Amino acid sequence: ITETLTTDLPDLLKLAVNDAVKLLAAGEVVALPTETVYGLAADALNADAVAKIFAAKERPTFDPLIVHVPHKKDLDMVADIPEDIAPTVKRLIERFWPGPLTLILPKKACVPDIVTAGLPTVAVRASQNLVFNRVARTLEKPLAAPSANRFGSISPTSAAAVLSELDGRIPLIVDGGACHFGLESTIVKVEAASPKPRLIILRPGPITAEDLKAYGKPVSIDKLKADEKPEAPGMLASHYAPRTPLRILDSPNDFLPDPDKTYALLSYRGEPEDGYTDLVEWKQMQILSPGKGKLPEAAVRFFYALRALDECGADEIISEPLPERGLGVAMMDRLRRAATIK
Ligand code: TXA
Ligand code: MG
Repeated sequence: ITETLTTDLPDLLKLAVNDAVKLLAAGEVVALPTETVYGLAADALNADAVAKIFAAKERPTFDPLIVHVPHKKDLDMVADIPEDIAPTVKRLIERFWPGPLTLILPKKACVPDIVTAGLPTVAVRASQNLVFNRVARTLEKPLAAPSANRFGSISPTSAAAVLSELDGRIPLIVDGGACHFGLESTIVKVEAASPKPRLIILRPGPITAEDLKAYGKPVSIDKLKADEKPEAPGMLASHYAPRTPLRILDSPNDFLPDPDKTYALLSYRGEPEDGYTDLVEWKQMQILSPGKGKLPEAAVRFFYALRALDECGADEIISEPLPERGLGVAMMDRLRRAATIK
């Protein structure tokens, strides 16, 4: 059975952290909150422990994991920084760690191959979540932690969502409340180039291209030609997918509803003037940021809303397009990967 421990009182936090640390030190997996989404953590330097992550998630072993170091100064526990990109990497870490920025760097030999799917590089970040930090800093070890969902499904942003994904498969979920950002970290590969280093965004996230501009030239991986692309395993086209078919409806005028089907709506602002809320009798409507439409608020509710729509029993989920700036870039990336009807 899977136990859930809360952390909303100091004594409970202490107990939960103790239990998590004990389990992790013994080579077990534990679901922990981070500022992005909940992660399923294990000692990154223990291959048998990491294997349990893959088993619980039913994740294929070609999809490498992100490693979380306890402090930003601990990067060298798992990675080397090549000299030609060292100044840029150091500036990025100074500015964005601990936080939702994952860097791809050459891995140290101590990192088992199962973590990186045999790649010579490792994805590394330091989380800013208080609960996660207590655990990582007590254990003083790097933690491998992918999102705590079954492979291919929606990332969990609450302990309840983790439970619905992994109940019975893991011993412990530490409940740290809702995740601050609600979207997975931005993954960046730094490449030396002149006049500016290139910051290749393998996965858009809370740290936006705009945020990265001061540190190099941000380039989205989708914009690169096939022979220019760095290896980005696990970035499968179909991912983050609800079980219910999903379609992004670029314009409300494009909608030809099938009278025999039921539909659910993912709405940005829930405003009738946007043209979506009254298209049909929606089985359920989830509004990401009622009224004004604020992207950070929408991001926090995004995976929660998708999960609710997936569970409402509609035949199809229809999504409004979201503004493609700031956090909207990451949400549209997830929606396009989730869309099974194009
Ligand atoms: O916010 C996050 O990043 C969350 C929290 C828990 O930290 N974690 C997360 O992990 O989203 P996951 O496993 O769901 O996504 C990690 C992705 C992999 O699918 C893969 O595409 C990429 O990171 N990745 C990992 N190692 C890599 C490497 N060496 N080179 C390129 N991409 C890598
Ligand atoms: Mg994931």
